[in-house]
Amino acid sequence: MIPDGGPGRRLVVGNWKSNGDPGLVDGWARGFAGAWGPGAAVTVCVCPPHPLVARLRERLPGGILVGAQDVSAHPAGARTGEVSAEALAACGCRAAIVGHSERRALLGETDETVRRKVGRAIGAGLAAVLCVGETLEERERGDAALVVGRQLEAALPPRAFESAGDALPVAIAYEPVWAIGAGRTPTAAQIGEIHRHLSDRASVIAGNRVRIPVLYGGSVGASNIGDILSGDRVDGVLVGGASLDGSGFGDICRLAAAH
Ligand code: PGA
Repeated sequence: MIPDGGPGRRLVVGNWKSNGDPGLVDGWARGFAGAWGPGAAVTVCVCPPHPLVARLRERLPGGILVGAQDVSAHPAGARTGEVSAEALAACGCRAAIVGHSERRALLGETDETVRRKVGRAIGAGLAAVLCVGETLEERERGDAALVVGRQLEAALPPRAFESAGDALPVAIAYEPVWAIGAGRTPTAAQIGEIHRHLSDRASVIAGNRVRIPVLYGGSVGASNIGDILSGDRVDGVLVGGASLDGSGFGDICRLAAAH
């Protein structure tokens, strides 16, 4: 899981999506090490495609965590192509991104599948980075809070929070579908409104037993991270495209620590 650095410490998660190869890992790690500012008060977790996890782990500065994108909803066994939560944990992953809108929209992932994946991740000792977010049509209908609240309730198994200790079993990533890869973001006020809603709902579900940070994701970069982090209850960010450049991602992490 991801260690809980306390309420004031930001969490930055990088999502490489289906990008990268061993050459990118090597250059990325050099760029990141030069930019990020060791000792910065920020928790960082980088999620490359599965085959790159081990190589990236070997090349990262101490204290930077590696996570996975997605995880099987099932235990290890006869399911060709699936990667179990236990295998990811044994390979050094500390987290898994679950319920990303690309998987929901393009790969038919349902709330029920997302719920099972969250349970498997937590059960294996991985933090589930649970993505929720509304489409543009849902936002324009005034349904953003309703949609993300429903996705959250459907995905979080209450029993998951009984033995978290001082780790974070879940981080929620609020990712409006219309902001992902689009170069546009909600205003800090719009982000704050949804984050308050998610954070309140999550505390009720978890019975206040654990802190559940709420990250913002969707077109985050070095130029807008200050604005984004000024929103109410923004505990960190999930960065897609801008996480593919090691030096640029290092800058984002340093800025996150400073805000
Ligand atoms: P983006 O992606 O930063 O490229 O918008 C974020 C995500 O999809 O996690």
